[in-house]
Amino acid sequence: MTNPTFRGISGTKGNNITFLSRSIKPLTSPLNRNIMNVQQRKSLVTNKFVKAFGKTPTIWVQAPGRVDLMGSHTDYNEGYVLTEAIDRNTWIAARPRGDGRVQVCSVNAPGCSEFELIDITYDEVIPWTNYVRGVADIMQQEGYVLRGFDGLIHSTIPFGSGLSSSAALEVSTATLFVALSDMKIDPVIIAKMTQRAENEFVGMNCGILDQYSSAMGKRGNVLLLDCRTITHETRPIAPGVQVMICDTRAERALTGSEYPERRAQCEQGAQILSGFYPEIKTLRDATLDQVQTHKADLEPVVYKRCHFIVEENQRVLDIAEALAVGDHKESGRLMNESFAGARDLYEIVSKEMIAMQEAVMSAPGTLGTRGAGAGFGGCMVALVEEDKVDGFADHVSEQYQVNTSIEPQVYPGVAADGAGVLEI
Ligand code: GLA
Repeated sequence: MTNPTFRGISGTKGNNITFLSRSIKPLTSPLNRNIMNVQQRKSLVTNKFVKAFGKTPTIWVQAPGRVDLMGSHTDYNEGYVLTEAIDRNTWIAARPRGDGRVQVCSVNAPGCSEFELIDITYDEVIPWTNYVRGVADIMQQEGYVLRGFDGLIHSTIPFGSGLSSSAALEVSTATLFVALSDMKIDPVIIAKMTQRAENEFVGMNCGILDQYSSAMGKRGNVLLLDCRTITHETRPIAPGVQVMICDTRAERALTGSEYPERRAQCEQGAQILSGFYPEIKTLRDATLDQVQTHKADLEPVVYKRCHFIVEENQRVLDIAEALAVGDHKESGRLMNESFAGARDLYEIVSKEMIAMQEAVMSAPGTLGTRGAGAGFGGCMVALVEEDKVDGFADHVSEQYQVNTSIEPQVYPGVAADGAGVLEI
């Protein structure tokens, strides 16, 4: 078995995204997602903490990654997303300090970074620490009095794969600050502050999806998130189906401009449509009929983007309904339709995602599949008949590897609780 490459977004300031590459241990089986159990993980982190800081940690927090079952790029259009937090997460082991300084290291990436809470600047050398710095900065702007700490981060979320590793780091940082000062903050406020940290400090103009999922996840459930009201309805996972994550493990060839470009095209579309229909504030308010009627008023690329978002938003409501009534076939069909729209209209599908889609669609038990997160590579998410999961994982792993020479990772997306203090 070859040694796979681990991808990570090492910095997003000014929308320039660069990638880190390093090696991790090969997996022994496609379904072997729990590389370590909780106690092994705790002892690994404790040992490294003692090496880094000379003492043991006194507080542990976690925040999960997420996978979206439907709703690509609908969040910044104030639309809906069907999302779940997953049992891959980021831990921070910490010990409070009395001098207003924060020192953070990571088991997953080289380098440590130190800063004063009263003077927070952007770290050009160790860019991942800007997620920590940004959260501290925004929380203080919001008036919270924070305590410094020594912290060691450990994540089981593959970086840059569309499962919100950045949001998990932001939300775990905020959770730690809250716990260190014995504060009580509504998790929705945490989601909003950490989104602001990513928008304003890190420089990535994401929507609320990732931070909200990480803060608000509920074990065994999916969230039907309304990104206008920033509220959700909790829905149990439909019986008989399993969410599977199929990581292409292919580097995302991004310049960094793709995401803000899509967002700007949507905003342009909404603005033009609002000239005809004043009730349209964002694409959430538009109907397909309105978009099609004004095709000639929109640039062709803007028309395609609007077309996709309006349909995708409806698909979120439709799949939530289909899953609720146990209509697995319809749920799968909607996912496949989402994939086709993401490929042809929103143009966020990479060639590895297409190879993964082919592998998934020929596997036993597949109901449907689509891209997770922002797209442009990373993970696909599939709905699979529960009793066929093993055969599914074997087939997808083998078929994708034959077609691409890349070893994928295929594992269940188990719905987990949102961020919190770890009792371990
Ligand atoms: C990224 C962003 C989210 C959302 C998704 C696409 O994950 O951080 O806000 O826009 O892409 O749905």
